[in-house]
Amino acid sequence: MAEKNHLSDISKRRTFAIISHPDAGKTTITEKVLLFGRALQKAGTVKGKKSGQHAKSDWMEMEKERGISVTTSVMQFPYADHLVNLLDTPGHEDFSEDTYRTLTAVDSCLMVIDAAKGVEARTRKLMEVTRLRDTPIITFMNKLDRDIRDPMELLDEVETELNIACAPITWPIGSGKSFKGVYHLHRDETILYQSGQGHTIQPVRIIKGLDNPELDGAVGSDLAQTLRDELELVVGASNEFDQELFMAGEITPVFFGTALGNFGVDHMLDGLVEWAPAPLGRETEDGRIEADAAAFSGFVFKIQANMDPKHRDRIAFCRIVSGKYEKGMKMKHTRIGKDVRIADALTFLAGDRALLEEAYAGDIIGLHNHGTIRIGDTFTAGENFRFTGIPNFAPELFKRIRLRDPLKQKQLLKGLIQLSEEGAVQVFRPLVNNDLIVGAVGVLQFDVVVARLKSEYNVEAIYEHISVNTARWVYSEDPRKLDEFRRKAEHNLALDGGDNLTYIAPTMVNLQLARERYPDIQFTHTREH
Ligand code: G4P
Repeated sequence: MAEKNHLSDISKRRTFAIISHPDAGKTTITEKVLLFGRALQKAGTVKGKKSGQHAKSDWMEMEKERGISVTTSVMQFPYADHLVNLLDTPGHEDFSEDTYRTLTAVDSCLMVIDAAKGVEARTRKLMEVTRLRDTPIITFMNKLDRDIRDPMELLDEVETELNIACAPITWPIGSGKSFKGVYHLHRDETILYQSGQGHTIQPVRIIKGLDNPELDGAVGSDLAQTLRDELELVVGASNEFDQELFMAGEITPVFFGTALGNFGVDHMLDGLVEWAPAPLGRETEDGRIEADAAAFSGFVFKIQANMDPKHRDRIAFCRIVSGKYEKGMKMKHTRIGKDVRIADALTFLAGDRALLEEAYAGDIIGLHNHGTIRIGDTFTAGENFRFTGIPNFAPELFKRIRLRDPLKQKQLLKGLIQLSEEGAVQVFRPLVNNDLIVGAVGVLQFDVVVARLKSEYNVEAIYEHISVNTARWVYSEDPRKLDEFRRKAEHNLALDGGDNLTYIAPTMVNLQLARERYPDIQFTHTREH
């Protein structure tokens, strides 16, 4: 449990998320992190893909089957004198725009890479999103208990494909069956790996100094020599860790280990508390709010619906930017200009949904939402401003949605617009016909929309294929050019849920041609709320 005296010390808070390709080991590493945070007695109980220990508050059956739950949305735990918030980034079928937006609510990211595979597609995409804010990135090369690719080559790949310099902090000794541990470049010590200890925290054997003959005895003289040779190369060829470059998202400290074997995760966590930023301020329309500002402020980056089937409530996840939340306090919901009293915000200490007395900058609180809160909304202690930088992202998947009962067209539209305001999906209405197009970043959202339309709006809808590949919001400084564009490209234009003009492209090539043909039009893949 968090020690009381640290609760208010924001310099000791770290709020981060994991970016990775599915199956790289995000869930496993989360378990181990919680194990170190003493939030779990025994690893193997987070998502319970196998163990069957789904969290209590799973909402719809559909989500239950897929093992998605609110308790894993935010996890708060103490580590090494710090209080850490880990925000979940849905990654499998549940991958969605929420995944992207969660990255706007953290101050740093852990990138987990399967060291047998290297940089994979999803990681590339998520890295692009972290670039919007130049988020500091820590890297964990996972699955060293398997045969991996040449570590030097892995670093090269990260550098060239993700355009970020690598600073190895630990270096592996062997891999697969001959994985012996890592050498910690900053501590000048070798930490030895023992297999079969993945579920608990075990004492480790440490050998000080690279030239220590004990090392030869422990890992064998061949591996010891290889390590010494490699390190000479590594030190010459790679970058040294630099705090400033790290903070600018230009260099990433790299750790090696195995999440399954619970080895190396603590080295990474030590790096996180040492280097990753304490809660950072955020931009508003009228300037920046720093994390140490006294007055409460926060923004909503995610809304999760129907978590408690009995109450049909929705939870709005609010990142506190500054000040303090106290139970029963009054906040201003600035978009609608109303004061609200919040008596029952949720917190997520130790992975459990619990009522909360107080929370500080960097923390996430869950606000009960009865339909008034939207993604991007700002809450303050009374001032009138709005945080920026919590955008919509252009969907990557599209379907036409159609009613089974054509008489309910109005309800369908209303439902879709509300769901899009909430951030679940996006809806597009072409200028030239009456189609309704649903756009999402992940496939699960399509099912969620149909299920919610049925239960909340009493409409039965089905999907049809539509040949849309991508969408971009369009703007122009020059209203005449925009008008002209609107006329000429009418067949590819639609309005989104908020009536913003959007270009709907059947292919990427089509989009590229449109860009070339209309140089005065800006095509953007994010849109501010
Ligand atoms: P994800 O959340 O990123 O999708 O990955 P997850 O942790 O679920 O891990 C994906 C698979 O990789 C799991 O195996 C997991 O046990 C395995 N894994 C994770 N870390 C390591 C590691 O350090 N070494 C090895 N050898 N495997 C690792 P699975 O068989 O697909 O799932 P399960 O049957 O174990 O649940």
